[in-house]
Formats: sequence, C-alpha cells, structure tokens
Amino acid sequence: MAIKLLSDEVINKIAAGEVIERPASIVKELIENSIDAGASLINVRILNGGIDEIQVEDNGAGIEHDQLTTAFLRHATSKLAREEDLYAIGTMGFRGEALPSIASVSRIELYTKTYAAAGSKCLVEGGMIKKLERYPTAEGTKIIIRDLFYNTPVRKTFLKSPVSEGNNIYDTVCKYALAYPEISFVFDNQKKTQFKTPGNGILRDTVFTLFGSDMNQFLIEVDEKGSQFSLQGLISKPEYKRNNRKLGFFFVNKRPVKSPILNRAMDNAYRGLLVSREFPVFFLSLTAVPESIDVNIHPQKSEVRFRDEQTVIRFVSGVVKNIWIPANFG
Ligand SMILES: Nc1ncnc2c1ncn2[C@@H]1O[C@H](COP(=O)(O)OP(=O)(O)O)[C@@H](O)[C@H]1O
Ligand SMILES: [Mg+2]
Repeated sequence: MAIKLLSDEVINKIAAGEVIERPASIVKELIENSIDAGASLINVRILNGGIDEIQVEDNGAGIEHDQLTTAFLRHATSKLAREEDLYAIGTMGFRGEALPSIASVSRIELYTKTYAAAGSKCLVEGGMIKKLERYPTAEGTKIIIRDLFYNTPVRKTFLKSPVSEGNNIYDTVCKYALAYPEISFVFDNQKKTQFKTPGNGILRDTVFTLFGSDMNQFLIEVDEKGSQFSLQGLISKPEYKRNNRKLGFFFVNKRPVKSPILNRAMDNAYRGLLVSREFPVFFLSLTAVPESIDVNIHPQKSEVRFRDEQTVIRFVSGVVKNIWIPANFG
C-alpha cells in the first residue's frame, strides 16, 4: 500500500485524542492559556458536565485580530521560539496543540481584545474558521466550547455521566485555584456559582474557600528555600488524616502534577506518625530550576520527571520531617 502523509484534519483529530480526553482536559488547557495570558480573574462556566458547553473567560492580554487564524493552527504558539526554550519552560503551554485540538472536535465561539486594539469575534467549527470579525468586547478573552465530540460520535460514547464529568471539572478548577492563589477563580455549574477564590495571593484563604474552616485549623505552613529547590505551602498536622490521597496536592513550578516520587517523599515524612492507609492533606509547591525537571513527557503535562529523584525525595521529606521536631511544632 502507498505510504502517504496524513491530512491536517486527521492529524488534529489524533492529537485531540491525546490532549482532549474529556471535558476537564479542555478546561485545563483553557485555564492554562488564561494563566499564560497574565489573567488575574478566570471564570469557568459549564453546562451539562461541560458536554453541552464550557466557557472560560479571563481578563488577560487577549489575542490580536490578525493572530487569530494562526492561533488555531497546529504547533502555533507565542510561547516557545527556539529549541533551547524547551529545556527552560516558563509558561504552562508551549506545544501549540490545545486550540487546534479542541477546535477539531467542537464548535467554538471566541471573543478577545488586547489592550491596544479593538476586539474580535471568531467562530470555529470542526477546526475550520467560519467567521472572523472585529467586535466590541471586554479586554481579555472569552472562549465558549459547544457540542463536544459532535463530529466524533464514538468519542462521545466514552464520556461519563454529566455529574461525573462535572465533578472532574470541579477538581480541575480547584487544582489551579490552589496552584495560583494570586488569581481569583470563579466556577459556575448549571448557572450556579460553586466557588469564588479570593485571588489575594494567600494560599490559606484559597483553601478556606474551597474546603472550609474545619480543615484549615489543622494546617501548618511550610516555607523552605534550598539551593536547588524550595518548598512552600501547607501540610496537615498528623492528627488530621484522610483515608485516601485525594487531598494531597503537588505543584511543581506552579504546574499541578501527579508524582509517585513526591508521594514517596511525603509517605517518608509522615512515617511513624500515620499508619498504613492514612494519608495527610497537603498543598505543596515545589520550585526547581527549569533544567532540573522535564514536563514534556506527556501531551497533558500532568507528570513531571526529575533529573535527580533521590535529591528531591530527600529535600521534600527532610523539610517536612524537620517540622515534627518538637521545638518547631507548636
Ligand atoms: N486566553 C488566552 N489569552 C491570550 N492568548 C491566548 C489565549 N488562549 C490562547 N492564546 C494564544 O493562542 C496560542 C495557541 O494556544 P494553544 O493552542 O493553547 O497553544 P500554547 O498554549 O501551547 O501556546 C497561544 O500561544 C497564545 O498566543
Ligand atoms: Mg495552551
């Protein structure tokens, strides 16, 4: 059989399969774009678990009118110019895959305005730009995703119930609100506001908004600056325990990540204080020089690889264990 290059349309749909697993993956990508645009307010609204509609509105930098067509092209990004940049990534996005992937499996309505120029409105359907016009709108970007997977019916059958997809989105918005206490996140589900974080830069206030005061009184501050890494955040006193890891949050260079390595460090730190099947609550932000980590392992960037795993484990568990020394633990 003849060997041929795939068409852009097919390539986009394949990538959409990797980047866009479910509505929550779209929310994640759009929030990351808003963060990269320097927003201080991000409003996420969903209908029917995000299957019917996802709206993400920010007050960030906006997109220039003549850049809009490019934004929807594969591997088009304003964030990465040279290969070297790949080893020192300072933004959430860099692969230029989110917008074309989302666009290839949904209908998009986008409003955007930069500081300097008039606004724009753009309609995209199944990856094709259907309309692009000047349009008066607020500074920042508002993007509305409708009819997810309308043109890939098989993918649609893999979606869970709207409640379950909605819960997943709830968790996603929470994670970013915790990673970015300096940004106010508003989450509306079925036109009802579920939470609005203060955006005052204080993690404890964000935790209070999301989880209430009962937990808050059991949390202690962590703030340690080392030469290679630093660690900031909140951890629970050993008397406060959970029966799963769900409330253990790690952020590495402000990116929410799942990390068996960091879990091991925390297990280590609470050894002797918690028994098996008991887990702490924590919201921990690890800062590392970009060269010491690799986030480009997976299209969704939810995993991170450390150059030197043992050093990270030693640092994190060392910092936390130090807190249990009686003189430090009031
Ligand atoms: N909310 C937003 N505000 C400003 N610019 C945006 C926003 N969303 C997307 N963009 C622009 O569109 C480009 C493409 O976005 P995306 O496909 O997510 O790729 P990436 O984030 O990897 O660059 C971004 O590089 C950015 O310039
Ligand atoms: Mg992006």
